[in-house]
Amino acid sequence: MKIGIIGLGTVGFGVVEILTEQKERLEKQIGEEVVIKYGCSLEEVSLPENVIYTQDFHDVLNDDEVDVVVELIGGITIAKTIIIEALKKGKSVVTANKALIAHYGEEIFKEASLHHAKIYYEASVGGGIPVVVPAKEDLVANEILKIEGILNGTTNFILTLMETDNLDFDEALTIADGLGFVEADASLDLDGIDAAHKIYILAMNAFHSFFDFDKIQANGIRQVTKKDMDYAKKLGYRIKLIAQAKKLENGIGIDVSPTLISLKDMVANVNQAYNVVEITCNYLENVLFYGKGAGRYVTASAVVSDIIKTHQKDMWEHDYTHVNCIYPITFSKYYIRSHRALDIDYETYFSQDKDHIYITNEIELDELTHQLEGETYNLFKVRG
Ligand code: HSE
Repeated sequence: MKIGIIGLGTVGFGVVEILTEQKERLEKQIGEEVVIKYGCSLEEVSLPENVIYTQDFHDVLNDDEVDVVVELIGGITIAKTIIIEALKKGKSVVTANKALIAHYGEEIFKEASLHHAKIYYEASVGGGIPVVVPAKEDLVANEILKIEGILNGTTNFILTLMETDNLDFDEALTIADGLGFVEADASLDLDGIDAAHKIYILAMNAFHSFFDFDKIQANGIRQVTKKDMDYAKKLGYRIKLIAQAKKLENGIGIDVSPTLISLKDMVANVNQAYNVVEITCNYLENVLFYGKGAGRYVTASAVVSDIIKTHQKDMWEHDYTHVNCIYPITFSKYYIRSHRALDIDYETYFSQDKDHIYITNEIELDELTHQLEGETYNLFKVRG
């Protein structure tokens, strides 16, 4: 496999790093060499030895040896030209470009079929969380009825900060911006456009339909005030920016909108810059995908997985190695309830009724049980 990466920003560099660090394992996975032949960017950057640096994307597209083009420049103009040209030459394309797929997916996929080329775009929604393939393939036994989720990490971070730190929208936005969370065009995040790009892509795959992106009504979080959040909480809700798509009898219902979600709902407890996608279908009912929706390695992880998929041999051959060394995982914190005070290292302790309750520091179970010899106690592992 010979790869040309066009766009060497945060994610592009993450892709170079993962492909370099994981080279041996990935090559074993597909049974052939994984070579980054080109790194293309307008700004001069330092790349690993043997990677050709170019400022001209035509060098990548015109090289017949390159069979995978990775488009990471973003935007919907030059990126579109690059992708269409690569597909026309029969190259596989991997992209994280949500805006491009949402606006021009129909045209791009037609071009891909025409030239028997493939385009992969898992990284365009939910960063590294696998959601596009599940919506497209893994739930095929089901009819997908609805998809909803928190698809924009920046606005989720702002809403979380407003609540936890008692800030108004502008104050929280300034902090999010300072941390580099907000897109160069802030409107994409704040007005729900980025979330609309992403729900378009999920709906397109879940409902096997193209439609006009411009028909999606997107409302962002600018109208959400601390006061609304407090009232919502009093009513048992939290305000989240929810992107939603569902099949209607006469079409597809789709929008992005600040929404009160019951505090009992798991989606209401997805905070900070995390994303969540909930798919409702007729047999499986509800399934949730949760994780980080942005960041260098997070997004690069999905891009690299797509790159490998372009040359994936049969995953169902199960040519795994048999491992004999199987052990229980015993290095942990432990919860202990005893009727006597114990002489152990602990992180938390209290006594109630006749019970002495401990959460230990992390310790090997053998060592702990040795310290507890002769005592009677109840013990469970503690996570976190
Ligand atoms: N601005 C986007 C977000 C980046 O906050 O989710 C990842 O797509």
